[in-house]
Amino acid sequence: MNLSNKTAIVTGASSGIGISFSEKLVQKGTKVYGLARRLNKLKEIQRELGELFIPVEMDITKAADIEKWIKSQFNDSHTPDILINNAGLGTFGNVDDLSIDDWDIMINTNLNGVFYITKHVVPLMKQNPNHCHIINISSVAGLLGNPQISAYNATKFGLRGFSEALFKELRYDKIKVSTMFPGSIATHFFGDDKEASTHPNMMQPGDVANTLIHLLETPDNLLINEITLRPLNPKNPDSQ
Ligand SMILES: NC(=O)c1ccc[n+]([C@@H]2O[C@H](COP(=O)([O-])OP(=O)(O)OC[C@H]3O[C@@H](n4cnc5c(N)ncnc54)[C@H](OP(=O)(O)O)[C@@H]3O)[C@@H](O)[C@H]2O)c1
Repeated sequence: MNLSNKTAIVTGASSGIGISFSEKLVQKGTKVYGLARRLNKLKEIQRELGELFIPVEMDITKAADIEKWIKSQFNDSHTPDILINNAGLGTFGNVDDLSIDDWDIMINTNLNGVFYITKHVVPLMKQNPNHCHIINISSVAGLLGNPQISAYNATKFGLRGFSEALFKELRYDKIKVSTMFPGSIATHFFGDDKEASTHPNMMQPGDVANTLIHLLETPDNLLINEITLRPLNPKNPDSQ
């Protein structure tokens, strides 16, 4: 896909890799609707990226709000070309300590929210004369279960299944579906104190975003449906 003059929806655009995805897309000439709950952060990003970045205050766990926004924004002759399902969060702990609220928030954001938005974007993409692309951000936690991350594992494994089914369902409609499975990235995902919770051997958001751009720019009849990204040496340099 040539990204110039295309239209993308990026969820989780107020932080972390969502900012980098938006930045790289805008640099390519794509109009980006950046969705997140914190409008003030989105407005700051618009000041940096310019008018091609459009802030949209949205909680993706609210199905009715998503439907209303998509119906007000798009129609059969104005359709998105790209959907990046990136918004997500993780709360970690032993299963016996995990609250039902924590479980519900993860399922509602990482899994239900993806369905709520994808369900309304797909019919629009089917009307789009161009090839379209949906990229779902899973995690290596969508490939490997591990202690203390059971709920997060459940959402990211679930997202893998959803993505694989969609890739097979939508390929004949000129809609690509890809899933990214990243290892640790230096973002706010691990807590608000980015300095304390990340280290230099984690992957950098800009590098992950370059891979996303590569997936999007592949020739129309070439699909990278799954890609795993890892830091080569994942250890904190301070503890080696
Ligand atoms: N960092 C890692 O090591 C890593 C590794 C593998 C996969 N991932 C995945 O990468 C994705 C992005 O994470 P990140 O590392 O960039 O973390 P981050 O910096 O914490 O960003 C998370 C984003 O999700 C948004 N979000 C959370 N709940 C939302 C909701 N209900 N509605 C709308 N937006 C919501 C947040 O925006 P608001 O708070 O403003 O709503 C924020 O923009 C997630 O799906 C995560 O699971 C991260």
